[in-house]
Amino acid sequence: MNVKTIEWRDDKVVMIDQRVLPIEEVYVECEDYKQVADAIKTMVIRGAPAIGVAAAMGVAQGALGIDSKDFATFEQKLNHVCEVLLATRPTAVNLRWGVERMKHKLATLKNLSISEIKQELKKEAITIMEEDIAINRQMGDFGQTLLNSGDTVLTHCNAGALATAGWGTALGVIYSAKAAGKTIEVYADETRPFLQGARLTAWELMKNNIHTTLITDNMAASIMRQKKIKAVIVGADRIAANGDVANKIGTYGVAILAKEHDIPFYVAAPLSTIDIRCPTGDQIPIEERSAEEVTNFYRQRVAPDGIHVRNPAFDVTPNSLVTAIITEKGIIKAPYLETIKKLF
Ligand code: MRU
Repeated sequence: MNVKTIEWRDDKVVMIDQRVLPIEEVYVECEDYKQVADAIKTMVIRGAPAIGVAAAMGVAQGALGIDSKDFATFEQKLNHVCEVLLATRPTAVNLRWGVERMKHKLATLKNLSISEIKQELKKEAITIMEEDIAINRQMGDFGQTLLNSGDTVLTHCNAGALATAGWGTALGVIYSAKAAGKTIEVYADETRPFLQGARLTAWELMKNNIHTTLITDNMAASIMRQKKIKAVIVGADRIAANGDVANKIGTYGVAILAKEHDIPFYVAAPLSTIDIRCPTGDQIPIEERSAEEVTNFYRQRVAPDGIHVRNPAFDVTPNSLVTAIITEKGIIKAPYLETIKKLF
């Protein structure tokens, strides 16, 4: 795909605007960390790994904007930058991971001048972006071994190139299968209410010449019953130490459907999405988004004024429904408490 999700260009963080795809292909240029934070919050950029990269770049941009000459003040000001970025979205742990990696880098740079530190932090953010693409390719290489040519895969939300620095996690597995000479078809859930499936997954799969069928979320059960789906592959926003998986709202339902129809349910996610400090899915914070996303359909109001609304953006799939987790270090299965521990 000839589209860059996120890039560092002339000290600006450039992102494709995922709020308006696929109708418009426009880019947002963030000139400082506050604009990066705003872009994460308003979902110009979304998807756990992409958010992690954006946060790291935000920290680097924040560092460039600090004019202090001594390390202690510089660090204090950079901590404030980190807090602003951390407050943008609560569920995807990659955000915290990206910020913490930048903080760890800073801790190794104490002996350098402030201007050298700024350059090193900028390099680190760009490295994080490049590593993300390489990690996705590794995951894809492992994950594609689970698929045979002719298989049809169902996916939920967008866990593709647009949700990462490139290639993708769940969709990366499809792209790697294609690169290995396999023909794979995809059913994409539209993913109400933000329509990541209809707008983003459908768009990027078509750009990559993958035969794709778009369905509304409530069609998945019937399609599975017709024996059209060989595997489900989704991404994740946070995986707890016991293998419980937080991902886009609706994923839990898809996992239950997969179990009922004897279809394997795979989760593709980098280690940066695994939160070993979080014991189970019950401790994962779930973002609640605005009511308008539910009362409106693509900006058109469809529900009566005054109606009560819930809009949790994510749900938790218990580890018992997860057939395997595909990571850059290999494919792991239950008992996840043990297999995840071994990864770290
Ligand atoms: O609200 P979003 O669009 O940021 O949610 C994204 C998802 O739920 C993805 O499935 C997840 O981040 C995995 S992306 C590789």
